[in-house]
Amino acid sequence: MSKHQVRPIKYSASLLSADFCRLGEVVREVESVGVDMLHIDIMDGRFVPNISFGPLVLRALRDGTSLLFDTHLMIVEPERYIEEFIEAGSQIVSVHVETCPHLHRTLQMIRSEGARPSVAINPSTPVSAIEPILTEVDQVLVMSVNPGFPAQEFIPGVLEKVRQLRLIREGRGFDFDIQIDGGINPETALNAVAAGVNVLVSGSSLLRKDKPLHEAFAALRTAAEAAL
Ligand code: DX5
Ligand code: ZN
Repeated sequence: MSKHQVRPIKYSASLLSADFCRLGEVVREVESVGVDMLHIDIMDGRFVPNISFGPLVLRALRDGTSLLFDTHLMIVEPERYIEEFIEAGSQIVSVHVETCPHLHRTLQMIRSEGARPSVAINPSTPVSAIEPILTEVDQVLVMSVNPGFPAQEFIPGVLEKVRQLRLIREGRGFDFDIQIDGGINPETALNAVAAGVNVLVSGSSLLRKDKPLHEAFAALRTAAEAAL
């Protein structure tokens, strides 16, 4: 039995691995198998090398689903777009500490616009970089790949940061979720949950061509829950 508090695991499917010709259908399928949220990766070609899509796509999908929109902003100057993404339907908004010189203000802006603030850290960024603002967040997103692309290999060293975050949360009575993003499959999910993660993002291991989504999700869930 774990000496740590047990938080229910939530699953967030990353839209980046969807077939973009049938986005609406994929979202309905994600909802129908029981995934909790849709992880929406916004990339600007500046903070990360890739470019994805913007609020217009969220707006188009919003009416067709009640999935929670978990928006991951991998863009410079995210404060310029927060209001627009929340208006388009984002309910959780993650900003990267590496892009926010006034992080405290940016997180407060997310909350005052009506969404749940989340802070993301790259694999090379230490927990100490976000320690002063942990009072302000509902979630910490620990990147387990360098952001920019789906289907990269999980970096196991980041699990030490998950352990540190869990200790800080429990020691100081904070209440944030710990999300992990990048390279999550049944094997890495088990290790991540054992370290203290309670929100798993998964793209390429869920939305794949060789396996139906309900099977891929069942495999992920079984592995993750075995770690509780
Ligand atoms: C990477 C993105 C991730 C990615 C996850 O920059 O933030 O959300 O889409 O994809 P997988 O699960 O394939 O690593
Ligand atoms: Zn992401």
